[in-house]
Amino acid sequence: MRNDVKLDKWKISAESKGWADDFLESIFFTGNGRMGARGYLALAPDVLPEKTGLFIAGIFGELKAGITDFVNLPTPIYARLEVNGHAIKADEVSVSRTLNMSNGLFTAEYVLNCAGKRLQVREERFFSLSNTGLLVQRITLTPEAAIELKLFSGVYTSCCNLPVADDQTKENTETAQLTTTEQKDFSENGISVQLCTKGTEIKINEKLSYRVKNLQHHGTFEDEKSAGLIFNSSASAKTPYVLEQCAFLPTSRDKDPRIQNVSLEWSFDTLLSESEAAWARRWKTANIEIEGDEQSDAALRYVTFQLIANASEKDPTVNIGARGLTHTRYKGCYFWDTDLFMMPFYLYTDPEAAKNLMQYRVNTLPQAKLHAQKMSASGARYPWMAAYHGSEQCESWDIGASELHVTADIVHALNDYVKTTGDMDFYANGAAEVYVETARFWLSRYTPEPNGDKVNLLFCKGPDEYCGITSNNLYTNMLVKENLKLSQEAAEYLYEHDRDAYIRLGITEEETIKWKALKNAIKLPKDPASGHWRQDDTLHLLEPVPLSNLKQGNAASYHSVCFDRLQRYKVIKQADVLLLMSRLPKAFTAEEKRAAWDDFEPLCLHDSTLSFATHALFAAQNNFMEAAQKYFRKALFLDLRNVMENTGEEGLHLACLGESYQTAILGFGGLSFEDGKPKLTPHLPQNWEKMSFRFYYRGKRYEANLEQNDASLQLLGNPED
Ligand code: BGC
Repeated sequence: MRNDVKLDKWKISAESKGWADDFLESIFFTGNGRMGARGYLALAPDVLPEKTGLFIAGIFGELKAGITDFVNLPTPIYARLEVNGHAIKADEVSVSRTLNMSNGLFTAEYVLNCAGKRLQVREERFFSLSNTGLLVQRITLTPEAAIELKLFSGVYTSCCNLPVADDQTKENTETAQLTTTEQKDFSENGISVQLCTKGTEIKINEKLSYRVKNLQHHGTFEDEKSAGLIFNSSASAKTPYVLEQCAFLPTSRDKDPRIQNVSLEWSFDTLLSESEAAWARRWKTANIEIEGDEQSDAALRYVTFQLIANASEKDPTVNIGARGLTHTRYKGCYFWDTDLFMMPFYLYTDPEAAKNLMQYRVNTLPQAKLHAQKMSASGARYPWMAAYHGSEQCESWDIGASELHVTADIVHALNDYVKTTGDMDFYANGAAEVYVETARFWLSRYTPEPNGDKVNLLFCKGPDEYCGITSNNLYTNMLVKENLKLSQEAAEYLYEHDRDAYIRLGITEEETIKWKALKNAIKLPKDPASGHWRQDDTLHLLEPVPLSNLKQGNAASYHSVCFDRLQRYKVIKQADVLLLMSRLPKAFTAEEKRAAWDDFEPLCLHDSTLSFATHALFAAQNNFMEAAQKYFRKALFLDLRNVMENTGEEGLHLACLGESYQTAILGFGGLSFEDGKPKLTPHLPQNWEKMSFRFYYRGKRYEANLEQNDASLQLLGNPED
C-alpha cells in the first residue's frame, strides 16, 4: 500500500525522493487519449530507456512474426543540464509532482544542487485535448546564484521495450528495440526525427519546435542515443530561464481529425488554454460530484480523468489496452476489459467514443473470422488479446484457447451500445453482421451430448481463470444465449430491411432454426440439491481451502502459489457468477442473487484487478451496503493506494477504473433504463449527502441529482449547458 498521493478536488500531488519511482510514474500518467506519458522526469540524469513511458494508441512493433508489443516510443520528454560546465548527477533529489485533473497538466518541481550551486527546476507538460497531435512542455530553471547554464533538449531515440510475458509469473530482463531512426533534420528552431516501427512499418514523426526566455540557441547535439538543440546563458540569480517545447507527433496511421500541425505563433500558455477549453467541455459531460465524502469525490474524478486520458475517442481503428497508454503490460493488448468494464463510461459520457470502440470490433471482424478458422471453427471468434489489427496475441495456450467468453462479451457490449444510443445505422451496417457470424461460431463450438438433446460447452474458462479448464461456465453460456437471441433477431431484421445483406451473408432460414435450437439446448448448471446456480460443471469438485492459506494481503496469490495448484483449489480468481448477475440483473431473482453472493463471495481471492469493483457493483445493486462500500473503497483506490502492489510495475488498471465508474452510476446511483426511459433507484453510501452526474441516453442529455431521500432527473438542453 502507498499513502503518499494527496487528493484534492481537482488535483493530486505527491512528494518523493529520487528521480525514479515506478508507482508515482504510473499514477501521474497524463495524456489526451491518443497519446500520453508516465510521470517520468525529463531531466532524469540516468535515462532508463525502457521506462521513459511515451505511448501513442495503435503504435505496435513486432517482437516476432505475428506478435507485437506496444512501443515505448523515442521521447521528447528528455533534457540534460550543465551548470558551470558540470553535468548534473543522479544525486538524491526531492521531487514534488502534481497533476491538475481539470486540464491534464503535469508538474514536477525540485531543487538541484550542482557544482555547489542551487537551482530550482519546474518541469511542466500536457498532451493537448484540442489538438491531439501535440505534447507541450516547459522547463523553468531559477538559479539561486549566478551560474553558467547549458540546457540540451531534444529526442531520446534509444527508448526500448522490456517485453512482459503473458504468464504473469515470468520475469524478463531482455529489452527489445522496436523503432529505428530513419532521419533527423535540424532547423533554425527545432528538430524533426523520423521513426519507423519494427515489422509493422508504422512511421512516426517527432517534430519539435522551441521558444525560450533568457536562453540563447547555442547549436545542436547528436549522438547514437539522442539528438536536439543546445541552449545556454550566463544566468543571474533569481531569474527564471524558460524553455518551451512543442512536439508535434503525427504518424502514418492517424485517424483522429483533431491532429493538426501547430501555427508558428504557438506558446505554452495559449496551447494550454485551448486544451483546457476542450477538457472543460469533456468534464461537462463526465464529471461526478459527491458531497459529504471528499476523498471519494476526488478519487472518482481521478478515475474519470484517466478514462478520458487513455481512450483515443475519435479513432475507430484502435481500442483501449488493459493498461491503457500507461504501460506495456500484456503487450498493450485489448481485452474484454474494454467491452464489459470500460465501455459504459464512454456510452454515457461520450457516445461517439463508445461508437468508435464498438466500430473497432466491427472493423476487426475479418480477423475474428480468420481466428475461428485457425481454431477449426466456423463464423467469427474474437481473440482473447488483440493488438490494433485484431489478431490473437495471447501466447499462453490454455488461456488464449479457452477464454471463449470474449466473443459473447463483445456482442453484449454491441447490444448495450445499440440499445442505449438507438443507433440503428450502426446496428444495420455493423453489429448485425457480427451477431450473425458469432452465432455461426457458437454453432460450431458446442458439442452435442451423446444420446441427448442438450449441448455442452467443453474446454472453456469463464472469467474465473482459476477454475481449471472446465465446461458449461454459467456466465459464458448465459451470454451465448443472449448472443444467439440477438443473432436470430438480426437475421430477421436483415431479411425485412436489407435483403441484399441477408443474401450476401448467406443466411438461410434453416440456419437460424439451428441457432434457435442451440440456444434452447445450452445447459445452465445448477446444484441439484439446493437449486443454487453453479459457476460451471467442476468448481464444486475442487478441493476446499481457507483463503488465508493462499494469501494474506491483497497482492495476487499466483506470486506465491503455483498457477497449476491454484486451478485445483475451490477458489475463484475474480467475479464470475456475480459479474453475470450484475450485467443481467433482471434475469435472476433477489433470492438467487443473495444465494450466489453467499456461495461465491467467500471463495473469491480477488487476484485480478477486475474483481473488487464488480463485487462493489453487485453489492450496491442489491443493497448490501456495507459490502458495497468495503469493495468500492478497494476498487476506487486500487491504483491511487497501490492496493494490489502492482500499479508501479504494470501501470493503471483501466477495467477497474471503468467498473468503479459503473459502481458509482449504476450501483450507488441506481441508474437503469426501462421502457425507453432512464430511471434512478439510488443506494447512496451513508456519508454521501449528494451525488450528481450527467449522462446521454438515446441522443438526449440528462442530469441526475441524488440525495439520501431524494432523486431527480433533469433533461438538459443545449450541449454547452
Ligand atoms: C484477468 C482477465 C483480464 C486480464 C487483463 C487477467 O488477470 O484475469 O480477466 O482480462 O487480466 O486485465
